[in-house]
Amino acid sequence: MTAQHSAHHSGHSFGIDVGGSGIKGAEVDLATGEFVGDRLKIATPQPATPEAVAEVVAQIVAEKGWDGPVGITMPSVVKDQVILSAANIDKSWIGVDAQELFNQHLDVPFTVLNDADAAGLAEVAYGDEIARTGSVLFLTLGTGIGSALLLNGQLFPNTELGHLTVDKKEAEKQASSAVKDREELKTKQWAKRVNRVLHEYEALLNPSAFVIGGGISRKFDKWGEYLDIDTSVVPAQLRNRAGIVGAAMAAKEGVRP
Ligand code: BGC
Repeated sequence: MTAQHSAHHSGHSFGIDVGGSGIKGAEVDLATGEFVGDRLKIATPQPATPEAVAEVVAQIVAEKGWDGPVGITMPSVVKDQVILSAANIDKSWIGVDAQELFNQHLDVPFTVLNDADAAGLAEVAYGDEIARTGSVLFLTLGTGIGSALLLNGQLFPNTELGHLTVDKKEAEKQASSAVKDREELKTKQWAKRVNRVLHEYEALLNPSAFVIGGGISRKFDKWGEYLDIDTSVVPAQLRNRAGIVGAAMAAKEGVRP
């Protein structure tokens, strides 16, 4: 064993975020929520079948020389470690027992959870005070729209609000950041759609705040001004890091939503 591949640091963990376009992993310092070393990103195999994805997950762990527990996020409903939905990944994931699958590829303990749930928990732990106070709807705007419903930092898992019908169409099919790119929407046009969706969530849940994550939250100052809802809306602090950090937290704590 080289020094680099020595036993894992007890205060560190490892998170892997499985997304529609990339599978990303990093070691995380749980004291700070910061990455230790570089994040490794490998393009999601197409089709993103369970076998193909599990191989990449194992490859990331191996390349990073990590030998401790691992957290893995999926863009899916994950109940009792079984994948129950596949909106933006290969449909063959539905019904897959994630413990069985990853067991065949990893020789370290692991936990699988929904990507937005993981990101929401990371925001609670390392983000703004607002994320852990009261009733919060955390959303990730990316390939789809992910949601994490939080009450004083406690998670109600697998809410899947990106699939709520708003004006006869699924929210994520009109207001995700992938739709903005695909339809080449102007920032203002797209922000108006997000605004419409947030109004719907507001009417249903009346949260104390919305926290918005995903890559596009970085540019919140460019589009936040087009929102006109009463509930406060704040950009997430961890941005793209949240999924991996939340996964790493879950690995460490053995959280199994
Ligand atoms: C999936 C969710 C996921 C979200 C963000 C949705 O299409 O149904 O499980 O959290 O995308 O990736």
